[in-house]
Amino acid sequence: MPAQRKLFVTTALPYANGNFHIGHIMEYIQADIWVRHQRMQGSQVHFVCADDAHGAPIMIAAEKAGKSPQQFVADIAAGRKPYLDGFHIAFDNWHSTDAPENHELAQQIYRDLNANGLISSKVIEQFFDPAKNMFLPDRFIKGECPNCHSKDQYGDNCEVCSKVYSPTDLINPYSALSGATPVLKSSEHFFFKLSDPRCMAFLKEWTRGEGRLQTEVLNKISEWLEPGEDGKAVLGDWDISRDAPYFGIEIPDAPGKYFYVWLDAPVGYLASLKNYFDKGGAQTAGESMSYDQFAADPDVEQYHFIGKDIITFHTLFWPAMLHFSGRKVPDKVFVHGFLTVNNGEKMSKSRGTGLDPLKYLSLGMNPEWLRYYLAAKLSGRNEDIDFNPDDFMARVNSDLVGKYINIASRAVKFVPGGKLAATHAEPGAQALVENVRALYEARDYGRALREIMAYADKVNLRFDTAAPWKLVKEGKAAEAAAVCSMCLESFKVMTACLKPVMPALAAQAEAFLQCAPLDWSTAAAPMGEGHAVGVYKHLMQRVEEKQLDALFEPPAPAAPQQIVPGGEELAPTISIDDFAKIDLRIARIVNCEAVEGSTKLLRLTLDVGEGRMRNVFSGIASAYQPAELVGKLTVMVANLAPRKMKFGLSEGMVLAASHGDEKANSGIYVLNPWPGAQPGMRVR
Ligand code: MSP
Ligand code: ZN
Repeated sequence: MPAQRKLFVTTALPYANGNFHIGHIMEYIQADIWVRHQRMQGSQVHFVCADDAHGAPIMIAAEKAGKSPQQFVADIAAGRKPYLDGFHIAFDNWHSTDAPENHELAQQIYRDLNANGLISSKVIEQFFDPAKNMFLPDRFIKGECPNCHSKDQYGDNCEVCSKVYSPTDLINPYSALSGATPVLKSSEHFFFKLSDPRCMAFLKEWTRGEGRLQTEVLNKISEWLEPGEDGKAVLGDWDISRDAPYFGIEIPDAPGKYFYVWLDAPVGYLASLKNYFDKGGAQTAGESMSYDQFAADPDVEQYHFIGKDIITFHTLFWPAMLHFSGRKVPDKVFVHGFLTVNNGEKMSKSRGTGLDPLKYLSLGMNPEWLRYYLAAKLSGRNEDIDFNPDDFMARVNSDLVGKYINIASRAVKFVPGGKLAATHAEPGAQALVENVRALYEARDYGRALREIMAYADKVNLRFDTAAPWKLVKEGKAAEAAAVCSMCLESFKVMTACLKPVMPALAAQAEAFLQCAPLDWSTAAAPMGEGHAVGVYKHLMQRVEEKQLDALFEPPAPAAPQQIVPGGEELAPTISIDDFAKIDLRIARIVNCEAVEGSTKLLRLTLDVGEGRMRNVFSGIASAYQPAELVGKLTVMVANLAPRKMKFGLSEGMVLAASHGDEKANSGIYVLNPWPGAQPGMRVR
């Protein structure tokens, strides 16, 4: 046995601009299972995370919400606990990249890189919003695609023709923040000189380290580490500065300059760890070293769990930052794929779709069902996985409850007084434990669970073949007790094997078995003849179809209709909750134009106060000249699913009054609020 391993484990730091979605929860569950497995083999683990607080999008979101960025991220942070506790995700510490530890560490790392000759500066030209007085990040610049001429495309690529370009290529660019035309302005920027031959040499070696990266990950980043056709490094210098106003960390000796959010974000791993040590948490958990000792200890292993969208930051920039500032580098970066729900699109960063984790909990659904299901789908590779309700129900009900839980409930009945007669489990227990433990280590949880279920099948077969209920009738109670004792010994082995995935269930099962908390060293050892198990209480319910229906919200049944004399039929009655689902907002019509090829539609550019413009097509061309509408306020349905039309994407609907009967020909009237209403106000 090697000496006790010391591990520092993290998950990616979520942006503090929204609540967790199910994709975040998946990442945390994946890492939490691994950490619990490590602890079961006696590793000393410090498992930390933090909110990623900085950057332009969060600054802008805070402004929109009428809060300081600090208050904004604090409010998001305050909502984290119910998710983490709810799904048994046991981080040792949760911190923030805006905390003092991170300011200090990021600045120190920068100073060290600078002293090492790896920081350069040069003046670059960028789009600047003259109304907002700030440089615009690419995603806040919009305009006409230079390739297909679609309007309102983002500064980095066109959503219609997929062309990739730079913001300065856009035709008629405008700021999505203010609508103003951006101007080019020059400013000094700081760069991390990743093209330095030292960096290249280091990264080549580090990325190819034994077992360091998954093969598919190494393949993906390798292109950055080979010289291009001109013999020069493909990996360019990395722009790490942003100009004020910016929510971030000030760059030392460079007034008005801040670190780009991705520079200080991974430093947040260390900041959270330091905070944990400095407030005594690590010591309470049995740690004897100080933060500085721990961070410098060559025996400490450092692991990062991340999704496949942030590979370059973690496998190139971050190790280089650490190495060239004289710090220890990560041992491994574990990359997972994306979780989709119902074969949906991958969940976007800002709007989680499909499966709301808090709703799942509030419906009383067992968090360990989800842990089990996700584990069953996860492998050590970075392929995407899908949450499918039927599959979920089948795996939980047939495998988990049907195969594992049932063994205990069936077997205990034939063991008088719970006193075990046999001294061993179903053959193969030791091999199962070794196998499963290695599979957890390799993060191949899906295979681990398949191995456990195959063992469960053998145990169930033994039970069914022995038919203890018959044996008892035949007066062979002792034989029945022997077989069932063996089943209970096997149940104990499986409980240990499932423990990293389902810690709460395992605790209940341990209580029933009256055995000490299980770990890998005790997993296969028999409880032994004469050991008494307790009274069996049901350990886990089955998933019910109606729970899944509720989770994915079936449409409400239609209410009876009423007739209104002289007019259109009144729509079925709705509840106030139904109405609340419709998000009506005041919108300013920033631009309005005719649509070529359509006599009915006008194209409206709407400002709903959300820091970007919306493109909406409206069938009001028969009633209005475009110029009449520009600058006017109206009301729009702001949460209508965007619709792809022949002429482009329509992102909502403006409200207009008309007779249902078109022949009445009495016109269309766009709604217009009373003076004083502002874009973005909700109409309720
Ligand atoms: N703030 C950065 C990470 C900084 S790490 C120093 C970030 N935040 S994020 O909130 O967008 O994503 C956090 C993690 O969640 C990332 O690892 C990301 O890959 C993961 N996921 C986001 N959506 C996901 C799914 N749909 N499925 C699985 N993981 C997903 O990136
Ligand atoms: Zn285009």
